[in-house]
Amino acid sequence: MSLAAIAAAASAKDIALNTPNTTLLLQAEPGARVYVRYYGSRLDDMSQVRNANIRGEEAYPCFGYGSGFISSMALGVTHSDGDLGTDLRYVSDSCTGFEGGTDYVVTTRDTKHNFEVDLCYRTYGNCDVIEMWTVIRNGEKKPVVLEKYASAALPFRKGDVWVSHEHGTWASEAWLTEEPLNAGRLEIADLSGTRNAMLNRPNIMLSLDGKPRENAGRTVGAVLCWSGNYRMTIDTDSGRYHHLVCGINETGSRYTLGRNECFTTPALAVVYSDEGKGGVSRNYHRWARLNGKIHNGQALRKTLLNSWEGVYLNVSQGAMEKMMDGVQALGAELFVMDDGWFGGKYKRSIDNCALGDWVTDTDKLPDGVPALEKAAAARGLKWGIWIEPEMTNTLSELYEKHPDWVICNPGREPVCGRGGTQLVLDMSNPAVQDYVFSIVDNIMKETPGTYYIKWDCNMDINSVGSSYLTSDRQSHLYVDYHLGLVRTLERIRANYPDLVIQDCASGGGRVNYGLMPYFDEFWTSDNTDAEQRLFIQWGTSMFFPPCAMAQHVSASPNHQTGRVLPLKFRFDVAMTGRLGMEMKPSDLSPEEFEFARNAFATYKEIRPVVQQGDLYRILSPYDSHGLASEIFVTEDKSEAVFFAYKFRQYANSPAWPCFRFDGLDPDAQYVLTELNRTSGPEPWEGKTFSGRFLMDTGIELSLGGVYSSCIIRCSSCR
Ligand code: DGJ
Repeated sequence: MSLAAIAAAASAKDIALNTPNTTLLLQAEPGARVYVRYYGSRLDDMSQVRNANIRGEEAYPCFGYGSGFISSMALGVTHSDGDLGTDLRYVSDSCTGFEGGTDYVVTTRDTKHNFEVDLCYRTYGNCDVIEMWTVIRNGEKKPVVLEKYASAALPFRKGDVWVSHEHGTWASEAWLTEEPLNAGRLEIADLSGTRNAMLNRPNIMLSLDGKPRENAGRTVGAVLCWSGNYRMTIDTDSGRYHHLVCGINETGSRYTLGRNECFTTPALAVVYSDEGKGGVSRNYHRWARLNGKIHNGQALRKTLLNSWEGVYLNVSQGAMEKMMDGVQALGAELFVMDDGWFGGKYKRSIDNCALGDWVTDTDKLPDGVPALEKAAAARGLKWGIWIEPEMTNTLSELYEKHPDWVICNPGREPVCGRGGTQLVLDMSNPAVQDYVFSIVDNIMKETPGTYYIKWDCNMDINSVGSSYLTSDRQSHLYVDYHLGLVRTLERIRANYPDLVIQDCASGGGRVNYGLMPYFDEFWTSDNTDAEQRLFIQWGTSMFFPPCAMAQHVSASPNHQTGRVLPLKFRFDVAMTGRLGMEMKPSDLSPEEFEFARNAFATYKEIRPVVQQGDLYRILSPYDSHGLASEIFVTEDKSEAVFFAYKFRQYANSPAWPCFRFDGLDPDAQYVLTELNRTSGPEPWEGKTFSGRFLMDTGIELSLGGVYSSCIIRCSSCR
């Protein structure tokens, strides 16, 4: 170290951001750049980092002036005089406590322009999540253009570092991919405009100790809380660190800031855990449930039946009431009428019309929606309804009246989606925001007993242009769409805090923490095939809590894959999230009906453990020879529910394990009871085992043929 560097280090200030088990250490000094020196398990003596000569990297590297990381910029600005360089130096910092955590702000200023960036951090006392974002302020005399405006940058020391991320498509979301970080750039990004979780999702984990493991190894998670286009890059050059930069995708989104305007970037929520991917997941789950990152996260979610796969668009008063009879007899709690119920001039009997015309189709429902809500209430059921508020069709009265409300590249034909006619409404336009609010507001006024709304979104933005935005701000559309959407959702929540709203986007296309603060749950996938759901749910649970994952039992053969599966397997897979059904109950045989009725009753008993407990994934379907297992454990470890599945058949399987549990109290005694049992008791039924034995040794499961499964309740008898 040079003398100048030693002198600088001596005057440098440590800013330690602590969570219960982790520390993110920033270092700042007046007139110098801010550095991330350390991120890992909790440190109480920060001088160790300096004494160990750990330098770290810049907390928010900028383009154009003297930064070492040309490839991994967090901020790029064209200043008001055309200057491309930015050089942010520390000015001050502050911290403010709030109930449950602490907010830190580190203010930096450019050395040449009147241009400031606050580096903002939020820590929580009930989980090891740190949120990081920036507030960018233009104090220059004229507008500046943000060319790149990431939320945060974070360095990771090289080693055997692996990255886990999710990719997919419609009916096949959240496939987990794991790969070592090699030289070059790994980029995970989205440009769909509306559904940023359908293909690649804005969530990654970095395993710092080699190949990712479920419940061991130093692991970092990074999740961007944004529902629009995003970009997460990891650059690996010849330096000592991998450079992670995450934020809004700047492609097509240069953002102009007028004089004295500021822009707040979405939060990047990071977690460090030395308990592997599982430790990171459990932290995200707690963060989401306990800190409002999913709406009403601590409430128990009700069981339901959704009409889509039962009747598709063939909604009618009789069909709905018949399904309600089934729901009531099964003991589920809520009935949801899906697509197909609306339309005046254009009727929603095919999927190419009527979005935007949210009036009841009285040919199908002569007594209107309020009559159905009453019919549900008469059966002791809650009532829910489907809408797709951000969309319209060229065949709709809305489009005839407001053609300027749709997103469309000016002077060109609209590019339509579903049915050859679907179009996206321009949520950057306040008049459209008011209209979208009014859709929910009208439903709640006309049918005040509505308990649940399924909010769908079935189209991307594939023709960019806004009639509302001025020509110099067209590139704001992708961002302002989501700011407008969030503004509308905030208004809905201010008026209807108790309404349960499902986030659906052709399935899991919008499973992101930009939107989940306003939604109670999401439709995990349009694919309800229980075998593929094992994978989809496994991947989704990496970052999202089971209480938010809508998991429905559907018909066999399955409508998406044609696979024939036993009803028990279908229930056992669906019971690891928010249980529901997606079929006509009248299609069940009497024996199946009886099984389903009992399964709903059983689910209600274990629901607090599944929906609010800690999830330990154990045998991964990705690498366990056609087996999978996981366990949910209450915080006090007095109750647990274990799930195991067999979805491949091998003669004399070469890798048949003793099924081990996880997350239990090693010193507690647990009695085991099998749930949803369809065959004679296993030898361990009703017996008592120590938590240590169950975790170290485990039990033998018969799991006879393919598609057999087992649910075991563990009740502590300390
Ligand atoms: C897509 C959703 O994912 C389905 O569940 C269903 O609601 C359809 N849209 C209705 O059009």
